Order: sequence, then C-alpha cells, then structure tokens
Amino acid sequence: MPDAHILGIESSCDETGAAVVRSGQEILSNVVASQIATHQPYGGVVPELASREHLRAMVPVVRQALAEAGQTYRSVDAIAVTQGPGLAGALLVGISFAKALAFALDKPLIAVNHLEGHVHAVLLERRLEENGELHFPVLALVVSGGHTHLYLAQVQENLWTYRNIGHTRDDAAGEAFDKVAKLLGLGYPGGPIIDRLAAHGDPLAVKFQTSQIKHPDRRDRKQGDHEGVAREEDGPRFDFSYSGIKTAVLRYVETEKLKAEIEVRRRALADIDQPKLEDYLRLSDRKTLNLVASFQRSMVSDLVMKTLVAARECEVRTLFVSGGVAANRELRVTFEREAGMQGLPVFFPSRALSTDNAAMIAAAAFPKFLRREFVAMDFSAEAGMSLR
Ligand code: KG4
Ligand code: ZN
Repeated sequence: MPDAHILGIESSCDETGAAVVRSGQEILSNVVASQIATHQPYGGVVPELASREHLRAMVPVVRQALAEAGQTYRSVDAIAVTQGPGLAGALLVGISFAKALAFALDKPLIAVNHLEGHVHAVLLERRLEENGELHFPVLALVVSGGHTHLYLAQVQENLWTYRNIGHTRDDAAGEAFDKVAKLLGLGYPGGPIIDRLAAHGDPLAVKFQTSQIKHPDRRDRKQGDHEGVAREEDGPRFDFSYSGIKTAVLRYVETEKLKAEIEVRRRALADIDQPKLEDYLRLSDRKTLNLVASFQRSMVSDLVMKTLVAARECEVRTLFVSGGVAANRELRVTFEREAGMQGLPVFFPSRALSTDNAAMIAAAAFPKFLRREFVAMDFSAEAGMSLR
C-alpha cells in the first residue's frame, strides 16, 4: 500500500480544523480552533458568526497543522475537505480554501462526508490494531449535535459503503444534551458539562420514559424524500427520538419549581470566565444534580439498547460508536459492558477525536486517495449531504 500524507480541512460547524494524517492512520498533527467562546453568549451556534470565525482561523490553523507535522504545502500528497453535511456558509470557507490550495499546488482534491469522517475517526491512532482484526459488517452509531444515525458499513477494495438503518425522528442526542443544559442554565455546549455533573447525582432519582424501539416506517418509504429511506428489502429501521425527554425535563423543572435557581445559576456562570466543575457544583443543588444524572442515564440507556437491538438483528460483527456524544464517559462504559455481554467488539475514537476534527477527514480520505476518487474544481458544499 503506498504511503500518503493527506492534509485534512474541516469547517462544517463551530470548529476550524486542519490535520496531516499519514496513510489513514497515523496523526502527524491535528489542530482544532474552537469557536465555543464566540457562540456561548447565544446558547448555540450562530451560522454567520461561524463562517466569520472560520475565515479568521483557517489560514493560521492550516499553517500550524503543516508545521507541527513537519510538512509543507508542497510536500503533502493530497488535500481533503469536508463537503457536508453542515452549515453551508461554514463549509464553503473550508472548501474554497482547499480548492485554492489544490489549484495553486496542483494537488489532488478529495471531498469527504463529515459523517464518514466520524466513522473513520475510530480507525485512527491504531486503536483497532491493538485490539485485533476488524470484522465486517460493522454497525456504526454516529451520535453528535446534528445526527443520531445507525449505518451498516462494508468495505471492498478500499470502497467503503454505508446503509442508513436508523436515525432520529426529531432531535439528535447531542442536541438534547445541549437543549437540556441550556434549559438548566448550564451554558453551551451541554454535553461535556452534563457528562461531568452527572457523576455527582443519583441517576435513578427521576424516571424518564424512553421511546419505542423499532418499527418499519412505511410513510417514509412512500415519500422517499430523505436520507436512508429504506426499500422493503432493506429490512427494519431503528429509530431514535429525543424531543420527548427534553420536554419531560422542562415539565420537571416547572413542577419542582426550579426556575428561580436556574436563573441565579445562569447569571452567575455568565459572570465567570471559563467556569470550572466546582463552580457548576456550587451553583447546583441535589435535585438538579439528580435530574442531570437521570437525564444522562436515560439517554445512554436508550442509545445503547437501541443500537444493540439493531446489532443483533443485523448480525453485525463489530460496533463503532463515534461523534461528539461518543466522548461521554457513561456512554462508553455502558456500551463496553453491554456489548461485551453480547460478545460484540465495540470501538470508539479517543475522546478528543470523538468531537469534530480534521484528522478524521484526512483519515476518511485515504481509501478515496487509493481509489483516485478526486473531485473537480466545480464541486460545492452540500449542507444536507447523506452518507451512502
Ligand atoms: O461531533 P460534534 O463535535 O459536532 C457535530 O457534528 O455535531 O458533536 C458535538 C455534540 C454537541 O451536542 C455536544 O454537546 C456533544 O456532542 N458532546 C457531548 C460530550 N462532548 C460533546 N455529549 C455528551 N457527553 C460529552 N462528553
Ligand atoms: Zn461532527
């Protein structure tokens, strides 16, 4: 297999990323400029601000990634960039820069689906080699701020193909973490802080209903208008739904009269530059900590249970769990325990590689590089891109 240094560029949401990865596995550099501070006052990502921040960060981030990897613009073998899904304006910043580089340097240009990037993050850092051979079919759960998708993945002669067998009917899991954190005055993004606070509460204190496990959705099949629409022979679909639990948390806040405390916490945290765990703990009473722990337990149980039902029914041999929410500690421990009981090997990216980064984009580009799957200069962003 030929060696290749691929420069990856990622700008689909609120992280500007650039990385150099050797032959799809070895990370030589991975630079991420986070925009969290920019979006924090708004409690979520503001698309116009995201594009502006990408414009500001792109050149220095790419330069730093090359320097840390001991590479130059000329020495890399190809340039890979996220084509979608994501915010159109944000994607265009990365794509325009990647095109300019590829054109000026006369290098091949590779377009990568962000979701495929998350799947390939699992293959980085030689994590699989340490743990033995990879057996297909693989079931990949991509669980992030924008997606909660289940894909059956196969590979043949470096061609990876994916079949979507499940998705969220409403909010993505990461979106539910973010919305619940916002509702409780804990700030943005919600996942990392809920992850840390949950360890300090009782996960069995509040009971939340989880939604239905599995059903073939015939209406989708007739409409045929969105990703992963299954034909009859494609078999069952495994769907998720997380808007209900968010509403249940809101109802709990109202019935338990937590609003005044939430307002105090929101204001106090806004006044602290980079609040620490102790600040959150000081500002949260037992009831709130129990609520946070119970919310996370319900989310984790639902994600793990539904994914393992899908894994059993599809008779997969390996499970991948990736995307921002895959950084969640309780999710990882629970998947390892439950999949272990089924004798199913489960792999995650390292926690740092679970959230958005460009190393995963460069990794996913490597099989395409081997297949010479290059794009022409007229390709563009695809905000609603699906993975196949
Ligand atoms: O993959 P990602 O960085 O961006 C998207 O493609 O969406 O995922 C970001 C999402 C956010 O919703 C964030 O709250 C969530 O991942 N997240 C977490 C954790 N770290 C990030 N959710 C739960 N626990 C975490 N530790
Ligand atoms: Zn992502």
